[in-house]
Amino acid sequence: MSKQELNFAFIGCGGNARGHGRSVSSVDNVEIVALADPSEGSLNAFKETVGLDDSVPTYADHVEMLSAAKPDAVVISSPHGLHFEHIMDALDAGCHVHTEKPMVCTVDHAKQVMAKVEETGLHLMIGYQRHLSSTYQYCRNVVQSGELGRVNFVAAQQSQNWYRNQQGKWRQDPFLGGGGQLNDSGSHLIDILLWVLEVSPDTVFAMIDNLDIEVDVLTAMSIKFNTGALCNISIVGHAYGGVQETFSIWMEEGSLYLQDGKLYRQEKSGRPELVDESKLPASANKDAAFIELIRGERTENPIDVANGLRVIQLTEAAWQSAELGRPVKVDLS
Ligand SMILES: NC(=O)c1ccc[n+]([C@@H]2O[C@H](COP(=O)([O-])OP(=O)(O)OC[C@H]3O[C@@H](n4cnc5c(N)ncnc54)[C@H](O)[C@@H]3O)[C@@H](O)[C@H]2O)c1
Repeated sequence: MSKQELNFAFIGCGGNARGHGRSVSSVDNVEIVALADPSEGSLNAFKETVGLDDSVPTYADHVEMLSAAKPDAVVISSPHGLHFEHIMDALDAGCHVHTEKPMVCTVDHAKQVMAKVEETGLHLMIGYQRHLSSTYQYCRNVVQSGELGRVNFVAAQQSQNWYRNQQGKWRQDPFLGGGGQLNDSGSHLIDILLWVLEVSPDTVFAMIDNLDIEVDVLTAMSIKFNTGALCNISIVGHAYGGVQETFSIWMEEGSLYLQDGKLYRQEKSGRPELVDESKLPASANKDAAFIELIRGERTENPIDVANGLRVIQLTEAAWQSAELGRPVKVDLS
């Protein structure tokens, strides 16, 4: 039986969208039927990289695109501050939505998106691809199964040459960036921490340095979870090189350490051992997963709206704590 035909459109066709474009166009019976982006340069580069025909219509305005092309689904890969408007307009137009991270930039917007998803019954998936990566799935399975006991402490660190590389660009504009590095690359770290642990943050104490720009660059943040587990997060947006991350989870009976993409497991008094890759679950592509979700081939949404809400709840609490100069309770209502 041939697969359900799906028409896709893109809102935001910059650097990141091209990877989505290649993945989407490689799936059987899926066609990219329209693109929306105010930048001619981005539209042309997208078409060229993804190998799209010149006849695919392009629009500067996403509302015009939605009403003319009537796609079944959209991929949103625009500046963070525009995600809310783009998501709501796409859902109102009856489209399933695959939005890039962060889903939105305020708790209020996240709740409105959640209500709209419930009202329309459409799928919304977020581009936090770590949920589909073998190493993080392994970490989540170990923590959730309890095989190494309860979690006592977690430390996560991320560094990136973000302050210099993004100077004068939309990511350092308070509205378009929707915050600074904490809600940009840092949002991946917050998301995966909450997903691996599946615990609720109770209290957060953050110290933030914006350096000489309007948004956060450096964040030192401590969290106490409802289970009693403690956590330190370092977001270093003023470093050299691309994204580097370490993630350590200390449990009652052992530990997991993820460093430079390599995963180590330590049991009680043993030494940390590299986890054999053949023991890891399979990774999946997020665009393929989104298409499977729409087609009913995947029953569970791997990165749903609740994930986007809890990330911004913790992020807003961290911003508030830094402003007040004291620990704050995380509002999860
Ligand atoms: N999941 C990941 O690992 C990952 C990696 C990189 C980027 N991203 C995310 O992808 C998104 C885009 O980031 P990027 O690196 O491609 O940035 P980019 O600057 O390369 O692309 C953004 C595009 O949005 C377009 N745009 C601006 N205003 C618009 C509007 N009103 N309507 C439609 N398009 C508009 C710009 O012209 C540009 O082409 C962000 O949400 C970012 O966080 C995710």
